[in-house]
Parts: sequence; C-alpha cells; structure tokens
Amino acid sequence: MRKRIIAGNWKMNKTVSEAAALAEQLARKNHDADLVEVVVCPPFTSLAAVRDALKGTAIGLGAQNMHWEKSGAYTGEISAEMVVSTGCRYVIIGHSERRQYFAESDEMVNRKILAALQTELTPIVCVGELLDERQSDQTEIVINRQVRGAFAHLDDVQASRVVLAYEPVWAIGTGQVATPEQAQEVHAFIRSLIRQMYGDAVADGLRIQYGGSMKASNAAELLRQPDVDGGLIGGASLDADSFWGIVKAE
Ligand code: PGA
Repeated sequence: MRKRIIAGNWKMNKTVSEAAALAEQLARKNHDADLVEVVVCPPFTSLAAVRDALKGTAIGLGAQNMHWEKSGAYTGEISAEMVVSTGCRYVIIGHSERRQYFAESDEMVNRKILAALQTELTPIVCVGELLDERQSDQTEIVINRQVRGAFAHLDDVQASRVVLAYEPVWAIGTGQVATPEQAQEVHAFIRSLIRQMYGDAVADGLRIQYGGSMKASNAAELLRQPDVDGGLIGGASLDADSFWGIVKAE
C-alpha cells in the first residue's frame, strides 16, 4: 500500500510574513499522518519562517529547486545541503516551469536528482507533456524520455526514494484538469516504465502524484485512480482551506 502524498507548490508567491501566516493556518489543521503525507514548498526566502510555523506538526517542508553542485561560484543558486540546512526533507526537481522558462534539460534534472539523493532529501520529480505534444500523440514518447532521463544512473535503492509527479503542462494553472482516465493512463504508463527499469518492488512502491489544476472539488476522483498516489498542487495550495480540502479528499 502506497502512502498518499499531497504537496503544495507555492511557486513565486508570498512574502515571508504572508508565507508564515499561511503556514500558521495550516499548523492548526489536522490530518491522519499515517494515511497522508503532507508537504509544503514555499519560496527559498520563506523556508525558515514556514519551518518555524510548522514546528510540532506532521507537515513536511520542501524547496522548489536546487543546484547539483555542492558549493561554488553559482550566483543565485542553492545547494542540496543548504536546502537540508533550512529544515527541508523534500525538493521539487524538474518542474515544467523550470524546464520551459529556465531551460532545464533532462540531464540537468538528472544531476539535481543525484545530488539530492546524496543527502536525505526526497526528490519530487516532475514530468509532463505540452499541449501540442499530447495533440500530436507524443505523450508517451515525451514521458518515456523524461522518466528515463531523470532516472539515469540511479540504482534500485536511489530510485525507490524518488516521488514522481505527472503534470501535463496544458493542465498547469489553466483550470483545465486532466480527466481521471487521462491521468490514470499516463500514471500506469510511468509505472510500467519503472517496472521495466527496476522490477516489481520499486515499481509497486513508487508514488506518482498528479499535478495540474487539482483542487478540492476534483481531487477525490483523481486520487481514486489506482496509480494516482497523491497530488502536487499549485494555485489551490495558496489558501489553507482549499489545500486542506485536497489533503482530506476521500
Ligand atoms: P496548478 O499547478 O495546481 O496551479 O495547476 C500545479 C503545479 O504546477 O505544480
């Protein structure tokens, strides 16, 4: 049985005080941590404030990005060790916005995953096709390339520490959510790829989140799909009640 994982990706939103206020609201909520793992990923600038606000709760902290090098002359970048030192246990890697606007390649994504896995971080690795790729029947080709690229050089133990997020780019921030059937189809495809690469134990344990306009009103039917093990939430994670509606979805 895979434990559900619901993560909020706050993207480039909220000042330190706004982020702390949201975290304080979340800290007052309750959930069964044996059933659902809950994570929030604020901007770097708010990690410490959110960590403090969440102290004593079962809500985990994640960063939205990191660099693969350990240290050095990389102005504006943050290493895995720095991410860990703020109290994070998770890091989002290869979000489509980073691939699209910051030219992150499959190789860069892979280097970041390998660097994250040298620490205790759990990488939340995003894959997903663009609208024209779906329309031209390229979805499986794109997902195959991104998944194999992400897992290059990872052994079984490393692979089993990764959380994947399937985020069709056409569904992100658009209000246009994938149907449960569309999500399930790609999630099952991803799991079959991992099965080919690592065998049953890793494939059956791998958690695959869906992301793209998930909200409280559509979460339950998505999460009911056999290969949908959680959600990576953008817009709806910026409000405590709407995020918690997803955490509590049954
Ligand atoms: P969205 O974003 O929920 O606003 O569509 C999801 C994501 O990009 O992780």
